[in-house]
Amino acid sequence: MTAHTLLSAAETRIATSRNIEHWQPGLARWDADVLMAHVLQTRPDDADMPTRAISTAQRKRFEVLVDRRLTGEPVSYITGSFTFCGLQLMVRPGVFSPRASSELTVEHAVSRLRRRRGRRLAVDVATGSGAIALAIGARVVGSEVWGIDISPEAARLGRANARKLALGNVRFAVGDMLAALPGQVRGAVGLFTIHPPYVGRREVRTLPVEIRRFEPHSTLTDGSEDGLGLVRRLASDAPSWLRPGGLVMVEIAPYLARATATVLRRAGFGNVRSHRDGLGVTRVVIGQL
Ligand SMILES: C[S@@+](CC[C@H](N)C(=O)[O-])C[C@H]1O[C@@H](n2cnc3c(N)ncnc32)[C@H](O)[C@@H]1O
Repeated sequence: MTAHTLLSAAETRIATSRNIEHWQPGLARWDADVLMAHVLQTRPDDADMPTRAISTAQRKRFEVLVDRRLTGEPVSYITGSFTFCGLQLMVRPGVFSPRASSELTVEHAVSRLRRRRGRRLAVDVATGSGAIALAIGARVVGSEVWGIDISPEAARLGRANARKLALGNVRFAVGDMLAALPGQVRGAVGLFTIHPPYVGRREVRTLPVEIRRFEPHSTLTDGSEDGLGLVRRLASDAPSWLRPGGLVMVEIAPYLARATATVLRRAGFGNVRSHRDGLGVTRVVIGQL
């Protein structure tokens, strides 16, 4: 049997699972490809993969992984890894799995930080696995990046990812919002990024199973009605840590972009702009001190 037959069957099963959010065409096939690549120890975009002969043991292993996916379990938790901005990150249940949509935040952060002549200091708040912090640190020469999160498991995973990627310029700390930051960076931060838990507390139960059942509750909502509790806290606390002209970048769902811009303006930020991605999945709202 070739991988092609198994991949087609898995694609059909995944595409019809009610536990999975089918928000973009082609995702079911991509999931099947990633799981098969994990079994065959190759890359999901390996053009030869479909023609590979599959042993009985490999078929059984693949089918176990597909069955897990059909329950809604995210592919990254099944394989233990996620490729973000070209970096292969370790992912663990209990820590929010990074999303490709966050690459937009990295793009904006990297282009702003690279323009800076002086100290290139960035802080990724609510960093989870460290994806955004690590990608900024990998792309901006001379940068110093902090990833901070209230979850000790998240900070441990961030540190493990930094070690694996040999990114000594990216450090992690545990704490409630900016309480985690060391005093010596006060007044020197060039930019803050945050991809907060922005789901309103009553909306969590309406999320797709693959999110609601598998991502920790505290990574989805901050318990506020509108989902902007942490955004308001960052907007009010960031100014005393930013250098003059420093930036705050908030990654948020499109329906919250306008309210987020208002929060930033009310906290005294200027030049507030909302940037779209190509798919309409996310926005990055940026304000300047
Ligand atoms: C949506 S996840 C984003 C994770 C990561 N930035 C990413 O994009 O993959 C939100 C993160 O906020 C963290 N968090 C929740 N409340 C927090 C708080 N009060 N202070 C710091 N981090 C918090 C959660 O632990 C979780 O890692």
